Amino acid sequence: MSAQASHAIGVFDSGIGGLTVVKALMERLPFENIIYFGDTARVPYGVKSVETIQSFSAQIAEFLLERQVKLLVIACNTMAAVASDVVQGLADVPVLDVIDAGARAAVAVSRRQAVGIIGTPTTINSNAYARCIHALDSSVRVYSQACPLFVPLVEEGWLDHEVTRLTAREYLKPVFVEAVDTLVLGCTHYPLLKPLLQEVAGPSMQLVDSASTVAEAAASVLLAEGLANPQRVAPTYRYYVTDIPLRFQTMGSRFLGRDMPAVEMIRF
Ligand code: DGL
Repeated sequence: MSAQASHAIGVFDSGIGGLTVVKALMERLPFENIIYFGDTARVPYGVKSVETIQSFSAQIAEFLLERQVKLLVIACNTMAAVASDVVQGLADVPVLDVIDAGARAAVAVSRRQAVGIIGTPTTINSNAYARCIHALDSSVRVYSQACPLFVPLVEEGWLDHEVTRLTAREYLKPVFVEAVDTLVLGCTHYPLLKPLLQEVAGPSMQLVDSASTVAEAAASVLLAEGLANPQRVAPTYRYYVTDIPLRFQTMGSRFLGRDMPAVEMIRF
């Protein structure tokens, strides 16, 4: 069956960090139904091999396509970095991802044409952000930095903590040397560190939040494809996970910005 406006948007991530994207979608598109899939049993992806991430991503995309989503949003930067072609190849609906959206936003806002990218080791090693930015504008200078400690620090809830502040200073030192004026938060978890990163980077640094940029891109695609839900009623949100780890509710509500609702657990 072809995509219909009343169908849900499918959003997926390696865990529950992608709920930052769901939150942004709920704010930007308050009448859209959303199905979220978080691979909580196999998170983190950011240190896994490309082959593994590609096969996990295909499995999840197929699960959502079977539920007739009208648009797929790859909320995980690591999956977007190494598996977006695989997902595109499977899908008969539009596919959006956080890297494409983040790269476009960075090129648009950087005045000095010097952009810093932070993300997981797999995202940074893939060079996906730099490739995407250079395809848009080859004159933009891109400086990347893997920040592997940020994911556990966010999951620990240390969003305004001296340890996180020191870690951020250490990671960002080499990026700041390059006089970048824009910093892309290239990981689902980093939007939660926005106030701390803004403080460390200084008020003139433009922070590009991949969650809100992909929500904006989703709004444009739905409009362009005639797929925006015309119904003005409270939407349905469904959440699938592959495990319910300790502190799931606390962590989930932190990412979602509201109480974590009931989730359904599935096993592949
Ligand atoms: N969702 C991942 C990302 O955005 C972070 C967590 C992980 O490593 O799986 O890169």
